[in-house]
Amino acid sequence: MRDYIKEIADKLMLGNAPVILYGAGSDSARLIAEMKSRYSVLPTCICDRDKSKQGKQLSGVDVLSLEDAISAHPNALFFVASRTYGYQIIGELTERENISSANIINFEPVEKRLSCVELERSLRVSTSALYFCCFQFGQNQSPIIEFGGDYDKAPQEFTKYRNELINNINSGFPTPCDGCPHLVEDYFPARRNIKLIAHGSGGICNFNCIYCTFDAKNIYPPPPQSQNAIDFIKIIDAFESYGLLSDNYSIDVGAGEVTISPRREELYKLLEKSECCIFTNASVYDEKLAHLLKKCNAILDVSLDSGTRETFRVIKGVDLFGRVCKNLMRYNQEKPGCLVLKYILLPGFNDNVNDIDGFLKLCDDVEVRMIQISTDIYSTSPMSDHAKNMLCYLADKIKEKGFLCSVVSNVARRVLSERD
Ligand SMILES: C[S@@+](CC[C@H](N)C(=O)[O-])C[C@H]1O[C@@H](n2cnc3c(N)ncnc32)[C@H](O)[C@@H]1O
Ligand code: SF4
Ligand code: SF4
Repeated sequence: MRDYIKEIADKLMLGNAPVILYGAGSDSARLIAEMKSRYSVLPTCICDRDKSKQGKQLSGVDVLSLEDAISAHPNALFFVASRTYGYQIIGELTERENISSANIINFEPVEKRLSCVELERSLRVSTSALYFCCFQFGQNQSPIIEFGGDYDKAPQEFTKYRNELINNINSGFPTPCDGCPHLVEDYFPARRNIKLIAHGSGGICNFNCIYCTFDAKNIYPPPPQSQNAIDFIKIIDAFESYGLLSDNYSIDVGAGEVTISPRREELYKLLEKSECCIFTNASVYDEKLAHLLKKCNAILDVSLDSGTRETFRVIKGVDLFGRVCKNLMRYNQEKPGCLVLKYILLPGFNDNVNDIDGFLKLCDDVEVRMIQISTDIYSTSPMSDHAKNMLCYLADKIKEKGFLCSVVSNVARRVLSERD
């Protein structure tokens, strides 16, 4: 793995070169936190096209427009800090702004075509198939590659399927992606690899969240493993041996509850090599996980969805609010700033001031790195005006208190943008 954090720190400290991060979002916040903790150094500034972010600070670093950043630091190096918009930004910097590729620390060649970022960079692994995105839309199913059972052949089959799919999209032939709003004509990599690996199904869990539809829900103790289930660790090894992983890929772990998985130690070993985001319900304080947090660039993503013991019990199906809060404090003590907390707004359950205020107080206490706002992504019921107002209340309070925030569901995004 390429250590970009060290490279940026070296340019700033040894080379005395200004370094501008492009993208004032969670990727920059994460990078800055790592730069601070490993090298006690900050980037020169951040730039972003979003006017509402310009003139403010992110993690103590000034956010400017691209034009102002270039005129203040004409010889600066750029680092593209956006997992989602990275290809577009490289295209914009090199083709529109004529910035030399040598001045972009994480440059890779890009070209224009019709595609989507998930197709171009993601590998998602379920118990029986490989896929690209977790969206299903209209009459279509998102593209999926059934696993044939041969680990050595899987990377080849994946590459062949992906190349044909993207060629067909661009030639106007029918594909499972037809009609998807995520398809756009934009910059994408000239040479495709895998930047994001996500493990999202299977496993076991000790909670019973009302919104969760995953198989893992409330399966404990573990059932015997199915003979045909994909072994996540083996599949990643196969993709790595085939040379398909990028030089700094990240892994999202969200299959069941990792801290009670019998194979968690093997998984933690794999995660040591990469940047990772671990989804956990935090019911267990796992020493080995705490050790991993200290060792590598990892964050914990915890969906708390409540701010009181009673609501937590109703939503999560277990009376463990106190224990979870205590564990969050301990994880943060082990690695300050490692926590991302999520609030899924569930009408009739947690759309009230008491829970939202309690949640935000906890976010303060555990020095949360970022808050995610979501809704139940599988719900088809329209949101009441009261629920919409409470979603706006949550977003406003997050802003007022200066927390970094990411809105992770389309419905929540729509409600908040309609209000603005
Ligand atoms: C399935 S869980 C597995 C990992 C771990 N047990 C946890 O709860 O974080 C992964 C993530 O999916 C999210 N999730 C599950 N069902 C959802 C739903 N219906 N709507 C929105 N997010 C959901 C949870 O909030 C959690 O952050
Ligand atoms: S269905 Fe949409 S999001 Fe999924 S891979 Fe196809 S274009 Fe991308
Ligand atoms: S803790 Fe995670 S896997 Fe378990 S029921 Fe809740 S959302 Fe589902």
